[in-house]
Amino acid sequence: MMDTYILAIESSCDETSMAVVKNGCEVIALSITTQMDTHAKYGGVVPEIASRMHTEAITFVLEDCLEKAQMKLEDMDAIAVTYAPGLTGSLMVGVESAKILALMYHKPLIAVNHLIGHIYANNLENNMEYPLLALIVSGGHTELLVMEDDYKFKRLGETMDDAIGEAYDKVARVVGLPYPGGPNIEKLARMGSHTYFLPKPVMDDTYNFSYSGLKSAVINLVHNETQRGNDIRKEDLARTFQDIAIDELVRKVDKAFKNTGIKRLVIAGGVSANQYLKSEMSKLCQKYDAELLIPRMLYCTDNAAMIGAAAYPKYLRKEFSSYNLEVSSSADIV
Ligand code: KG4
Ligand code: ZN
Repeated sequence: MMDTYILAIESSCDETSMAVVKNGCEVIALSITTQMDTHAKYGGVVPEIASRMHTEAITFVLEDCLEKAQMKLEDMDAIAVTYAPGLTGSLMVGVESAKILALMYHKPLIAVNHLIGHIYANNLENNMEYPLLALIVSGGHTELLVMEDDYKFKRLGETMDDAIGEAYDKVARVVGLPYPGGPNIEKLARMGSHTYFLPKPVMDDTYNFSYSGLKSAVINLVHNETQRGNDIRKEDLARTFQDIAIDELVRKVDKAFKNTGIKRLVIAGGVSANQYLKSEMSKLCQKYDAELLIPRMLYCTDNAAMIGAAAYPKYLRKEFSSYNLEVSSSADIV
């Protein structure tokens, strides 16, 4: 079979990224610019600034990516782009660029869901075999799915309120750490002990998650201690929060292993960069003699290579989008 080269575009949040991916698994080139430093000044992503910065960056990122790949747009077999979910203005920059390139160069257009992209990031270094359990843990989503085959998803559970990454970011903010909070809380937690009392989420009968109670408990604790004039032991608070937040994921995946008999777990999304999550899940997988797949750090956080990987099964099935493709700020996988 001929090799397939897909140019993939990702601009759903605060990274502008393009990649050339061969056969859905080999990264020929990857270019990423992040707006993180700009948004850090505001304590979170400012949508208007994000879309403007994507517009400014996109041409340069395209040139950089093609130069790294030593390829031309004519060499591509398809153009893939994240169309959902994400910030509408940001998504539009990627989608409009993809449509223009596809039209100009007569290439098929492939619309990719960002979360499915995070799952397929695992194909960049490993070969996903089915059936598998997929845990999506990002700034906007916390979901546990069964994947029976390419693009065949069944949802076991999801968050009823906040996503786990969102909880990390909010907790970071109340203890005075800059955006994005996840990596900063993780660093702090390494130096602390589980000494505070925080309530565990109670979603025991289901596979669903809940993080708003835990987040509010941290906010209240900081507020009360500050009012009493007491210092917060930030390291210990970060550690206590992280233990509970990750333990909740472990308990639900444990239950899914037990009930489904599936022997494979894929973890996807920004929070999968967390070392504590990795080590706890790897212990769990040992217990069930299951395989654990987590992409390397570069492919855990937002990047276009994962979009190229997720576009490949659609390319093989000729699932192309019309040149009228529109963005969607929230698109369910299932
Ligand atoms: O997938 P992602 O890059 O963007 C979304 O699609 O949301 O995920 C970003 C989220 C943020 O909430 C960030 O704080 C969190 O992932 N995150 C982490 C870590 N690295 C990133 N959370 C915990 N520990 C980390 N090391
Ligand atoms: Zn993401």
